[in-house]
Amino acid sequence: MSTNSQPTAEIAVIGGSGFYSFLDDVEEVRVDTPYGPPSDAVAIGELAGRRVAFVPRHGRDHRFPPHKIPYRANLWALRSLGVRQVLAPSAVGSLTPDLGPGTLAVPDQLVDRTSGRPQTYYDDGAAIHVSFSDPYCPTGRRTAVDAANAAGWAPVDGGTLVVIEGPRFSTRAESRWFAGQGWTLVGMTGHPEAVLARELALCYTPLCLVTDLDAGIEEGEGVTMDEVLRVFGENIGRLRGLVADVVKALPAERGCPCPSVLDGMDLPVALP
Ligand code: ADE
Repeated sequence: MSTNSQPTAEIAVIGGSGFYSFLDDVEEVRVDTPYGPPSDAVAIGELAGRRVAFVPRHGRDHRFPPHKIPYRANLWALRSLGVRQVLAPSAVGSLTPDLGPGTLAVPDQLVDRTSGRPQTYYDDGAAIHVSFSDPYCPTGRRTAVDAANAAGWAPVDGGTLVVIEGPRFSTRAESRWFAGQGWTLVGMTGHPEAVLARELALCYTPLCLVTDLDAGIEEGEGVTMDEVLRVFGENIGRLRGLVADVVKALPAERGCPCPSVLDGMDLPVALP
C-alpha cells in the first residue's frame, strides 16, 4: 500500500491489546473524528486474506476504563476507513454456574445498565430512532457460532449480556438480581458500542469470553481483576484464532438487514 493513500479495511476488530500482533503488513493510522480521536491509532493490515482494522478498545496502554472509552469516535473512525463489519471480543462474567470460565458465548440480546455514556450520533436536528430489538448482526452471529463449533470450542449460542456502568464489579445482590431476570452474562463495554454500530449501519458481532462467575453466583471472595486478567490471558490464543476464522468466513457482500437500517431516514449528520 502506498504511503500517500489512506489505507482501508472491510472488517474491524475492537478488542484488548492482545490482538495487536495478529495482523500482517500493518500500517497504523491516526484518525480524527467529530467526536475526538479513537482509543488509539488504528492498525490496518491483512488477516486471513481480508483487510482488517484493529482498535484497542481501552487504548494501547489501557488508559481508558470502560466508562471513558471514546465509543463514538471508535466506531466513526472505523466506518471512515471503509469498515462495515465489526467483531467485538470482550471479557465477561457469567451469571449462571453452567457457564464457567473459558466459555465462549455469542449472546443475542443486551440489557443496558450503563448511565451517562454518550450513546447516539443523532442528538441534534432530526430525531432518529434506530431499530434495536435484535442488537447484533444475525449473519455475524451465525458465522461466529459456526466457526467456534468448527474449531472445537462449542459456544453458547444466544443469551443476554447485561452491560453495567462499572468500573466496579457488581455487588452480590445486583448479580443475583441480574441472574434472576434470566440474563446470562455481565460486562462493561458492550454498550453503547453495539448501538453506535447500529446507528452507523455497521454489522456488530460480540464474542464474549467468560472469565469468572459473577459475585452472586459463587460464595467465594467475588470477582477480582486478577482473575479476569489471568483467565483472559489463558484464552487469548484461541480467541485470536477464532477471530481469524470468523474474519475468513464473513461474507464479502452483506445480505443481512444491517446495511439498510437507516434507509429512508433524514439523517442530521452525514455518515463518513
Ligand atoms: N468483565 C469480566 N468479568 C466481569 C464481571 N464479572 N462483571 C463485569 N464485567 C466483567
